[in-house]
Amino acid sequence: MEQTLVIVKPDAVARRLIGEVIRRCEAEGLVVRGLKMVALSQREAEGFYHVHRQQPFFGSLTSFMASGPCIAMVLEGEGAIRRVRDIMGATDPLKAEQGTLRRSFATSIERNVVHGSDSAESAAFEIPYFFSRVELL
Ligand code: RTP
Ligand code: MG
Repeated sequence: MEQTLVIVKPDAVARRLIGEVIRRCEAEGLVVRGLKMVALSQREAEGFYHVHRQQPFFGSLTSFMASGPCIAMVLEGEGAIRRVRDIMGATDPLKAEQGTLRRSFATSIERNVVHGSDSAESAAFEIPYFFSRVELL
């Protein structure tokens, strides 16, 4: 079974959308294997998004991710990585399909509610970034 790392970003936690993100994922048949609330430091946010360190939006993205608490989750299911990306919608909410989390709730390309691993390789880096083995049930 495939696992993916999902983050309810600080904008969505502040707007009380934690339940909505989890509800939509569970409604699609995904199972929660790990879940916690975290407050990333600036350095921890930079480490998590290090693949984007050369991007012009890196500073803004990482300070946003460190601006308040997030929910980190490991979700499991067949094709979980792709399925979560479909539930999220495109990075830019203006390009996201109707019914996706980002189309429904994102307020900008940066403050876009949710993160999901984009490949098996990124999931393999991102899951242990937040969870130890005993925290995955
Ligand atoms: P994520 O990693 O958070 O799941 O989002 P994603 O795969 O859809 O998008 P990615 O290209 O990995 O970008 C990571 C996050 O950086 C912010 N971003 N800002 N200002 C901009 O042009 C811009 N582009 C990306 C977003 O918060 C995006 O989710
Ligand atoms: Mg990404």
